Amino acid sequence: MRGLKDKVAVIAGGGTGIGAATAVRLAEEGVAVTVGDINIEAAQAVAGKIAGAGGKATAVKFDASDDASVKALVQAAVEIYGGIDLMHANAADLSLCLTDTDAVDVSLDLFDRTIAVNLRGHLLCTRHAIPALLKRGGGAIVYTSSGAAYVGEPERVSYAVSKSGINALMRHVASRWGKEGIRSNAIAPGLVMTDNALANMPQEAQDHMIQIGRSPRLGRPADIASMVAMLMSDDGDWINGQVISIDGGITMRG
Ligand SMILES: NC(=O)c1ccc[n+]([C@@H]2O[C@H](COP(=O)([O-])OP(=O)(O)OC[C@H]3O[C@@H](n4cnc5c(N)ncnc54)[C@H](O)[C@@H]3O)[C@@H](O)[C@H]2O)c1
Repeated sequence: MRGLKDKVAVIAGGGTGIGAATAVRLAEEGVAVTVGDINIEAAQAVAGKIAGAGGKATAVKFDASDDASVKALVQAAVEIYGGIDLMHANAADLSLCLTDTDAVDVSLDLFDRTIAVNLRGHLLCTRHAIPALLKRGGGAIVYTSSGAAYVGEPERVSYAVSKSGINALMRHVASRWGKEGIRSNAIAPGLVMTDNALANMPQEAQDHMIQIGRSPRLGRPADIASMVAMLMSDDGDWINGQVISIDGGITMRG
């Protein structure tokens, strides 16, 4: 893709799954990546894989729910690579989804924690990245939302609210800083078979999801990574303020 070579990216939540695939893809495009994650061993493994393939990567431990920690993640990237051009706000604590029920039943602690990591964490990535992006004359932010923001599920209320909030945050950033050269977009993946999903989702459930979809297969992390890379590249230079669904045709919004 055009315009990615020698750029600098922060992947906030890049230790596993979609974030890890995005870090690898961006590095293949010549981007220097800072892989931030609460799971430092996973982030180090991703950075090691990239470095082993001849790319540039650094692993940094951070907690998306902690303001000082997110600030330190961005600062680390600036110190190591001289600035940042790209931010992928991707972290979410999916373990919370297991007990995320409905609006009457859900534990308020679980709701608050989901918002703190999945939504407030994205706000923190935004507020620490933007001053650094502006110093380079602009850049791109890609947020990881979800189809859950649209489909109206009867469970996972906290998760859906956090992802809808991300969509609003993304549009705010696109509107507020678009003229200053910052593009802001979100991706809304459908079911993506990360290593974790492959290990935990029974085959019958996977088969059911294929059956109700419009694609012969389920999603792969690389499907999402390629859209993040495009949105961050010069090929996406006039795309701003959008939520792009990558879900094999499940949602068909328009
Ligand atoms: N896999 C899917 O089917 C799917 C579908 C729609 C949206 N998403 C979204 O994609 C993103 C990535 O999910 P994934 O499926 O790759 O799962 P994942 O669990 O592999 O990735 C999430 C990453 O965030 C990290 N993380 C969790 N809490 C954190 C914290 N407090 N601070 C910093 N890092 C933290 C995890 O360690 C992990 O590396 C998430 O935002 C998720 O909501 C995933």
